[in-house]
Amino acid sequence: MFRFLGIISLSLLVANCYKTYDGYKIVRVGIDSEADYMKILKLETQDLLEIFTEVRSGHMDVLIGPKSWLTCQYHFKTGGLKYKVGTDNVGKEVEEEHKRLLLKTPVAPGQFSYDTYHRIDTIYARLDALVAKHRNISELLELGETYEGRKIRAIRITSNVSSDATNNKPMIWLDGGIHAREWVVPATMMYIIDSILGEEERDKSDRMAALIDKYQIVIAPSINPDGYEYSHESERLWRKNRAPAGCRGNKENWFGGCFYSLCYGIDLNRNWETPFFGQVGVSDDPCSLVYPGKAPFDQKSTAVIKNYLEAKKDKMELFVTYHSYSQLFLTPFGYTHNLTEDHDHYVEVGKAVVNAIAARHGYNYTAMQGAQLYPVSGDSFDWAYTVLGVVDSYCFELRPDGDSWRVGFELPEDQILPTAEENVDGLLALIENIKYEIGEESDDSGGESNDTEDESDPS
Ligand SMILES: *[C@@H]1O[C@H](CO)[C@@H](O)[C@H](O)[C@H]1NC(C)=O
Ligand SMILES: *[C@@H]1O[C@H](CO)[C@@H](O)[C@H](O)[C@H]1NC(C)=O
Ligand SMILES: *[C@@H]1O[C@H](CO)[C@@H](O)[C@H](O)[C@H]1NC(C)=O
Ligand SMILES: *[C@@H]1O[C@H](CO)[C@@H](O)[C@H](O)[C@H]1NC(C)=O
Ligand SMILES: *[C@@H]1O[C@H](CO)[C@@H](O)[C@H](O)[C@H]1NC(C)=O
Ligand SMILES: [Zn+2]
Repeated sequence: MFRFLGIISLSLLVANCYKTYDGYKIVRVGIDSEADYMKILKLETQDLLEIFTEVRSGHMDVLIGPKSWLTCQYHFKTGGLKYKVGTDNVGKEVEEEHKRLLLKTPVAPGQFSYDTYHRIDTIYARLDALVAKHRNISELLELGETYEGRKIRAIRITSNVSSDATNNKPMIWLDGGIHAREWVVPATMMYIIDSILGEEERDKSDRMAALIDKYQIVIAPSINPDGYEYSHESERLWRKNRAPAGCRGNKENWFGGCFYSLCYGIDLNRNWETPFFGQVGVSDDPCSLVYPGKAPFDQKSTAVIKNYLEAKKDKMELFVTYHSYSQLFLTPFGYTHNLTEDHDHYVEVGKAVVNAIAARHGYNYTAMQGAQLYPVSGDSFDWAYTVLGVVDSYCFELRPDGDSWRVGFELPEDQILPTAEENVDGLLALIENIKYEIGEESDDSGGESNDTEDESDPS
């Protein structure tokens, strides 16, 4: 009886904590300049709206709750910003998705499916099962832990994986899920893993075999699992991690607590060490969705990956981070409009990638420099480019495109598979177009590398 009551009160608690988004709207605001973006950022800092889309030519989608709608309209008008209501049905969409997912049949441990969005335990159990099945070409990496103590896991795929010599192969890094609410991303990462291991895309098995002979491919499907789980359990549209960030407006009271309230979450994709860290396209209010933290890598999740990749720096040929949504392929720099010396290369790669993606299902992605609309500092692909010296360093924004009037993070489940499929092709095109080949020191004794002068450091 006691236990029964316990279950009831627990489920009531869960129901109460699930944010309904009743009366929330998605509003599209015209952005013609950096000044316009700064106006939106200011409203965001005042907790009047949430920024939805990262980069979008000419406009930006924001989420506005019922209490701030009048105030926001006032600010849009006085600020000379054009705006249009996309949907005022956010609550309904969130509820419907929630109900649909509850009805989906769970997969058996170690299995996976692409008709629903799976929780982190299912994703990790699948990684375990894949590694157990493909022992000679894959191994599990535990890169470290998050703030809440969840593991950050990756799979390393390469032929003859247990031989030390494979550590000298050129390396490809793919990560996903740094933003919690972008659910199609971990699903796409899992499909990419399945494809490389030959579980999916079997017609490409020869290409995949060649790939894993040549490269070591490390894929971390969900590098912000705290945020990801929170977005499943409590707030569907949560973006950041779950570490305490600081007081609203940075205002403390006399007793060392917060004057208003304590806010949670650092934007992990503003937390990397890049030029102008904490200065461009971010907010210093800990409550902001684009709060970068107090210092680069002051968050466990980013520090863990930095440490892993820094040690592999000389082997890194390709760095790709996956986000949603907008259907974009973004190239450095993200933090400044200035062009990199590799710009011509990026234009070429961009064409190849978007063509390969479109060839699969006819969906158009746009290739552009990350900072094309407005610059932001502290994002991971700029770090990989400027600090690690990885020329081929990119960011994808997956489906849907910028013109859907839906809650873009809630990509309908029947689009998971096609999104994943087109991105296998996009990735293969990307790999074919890598600019610098890092010489592999083939070394049968495994380990010690023969000191070649030419590491062809690309930076
Ligand atoms: C891995 O092992 C299986 C048999 O266990 C074998 O058929 C396959 O060729 C091996 N793959 C590689 C890349 O060595
Ligand atoms: C795998 O590694 C072992 C020992 O490190 C070596 O004897 C073998 O030839 C390697 N196989 C391939 C396919 O590279
Ligand atoms: C962009 O380039 C100009 C001219 O070379 C330079 O003065 C400026 O500092 C650069 N801006 C950034 C943010 O790097
Ligand atoms: C993609 O672009 C092509 C060429 O511009 C166009 O014909 C096609 O309709 C676009 N597809 C979609 C889904 O918008
Ligand atoms: C590096 O390896 C090559 C061929 O494997 C060998 O000829 C050369 O002597 C080695 N150099 C050093 C410094 O060990
Ligand atoms: Zn994102």
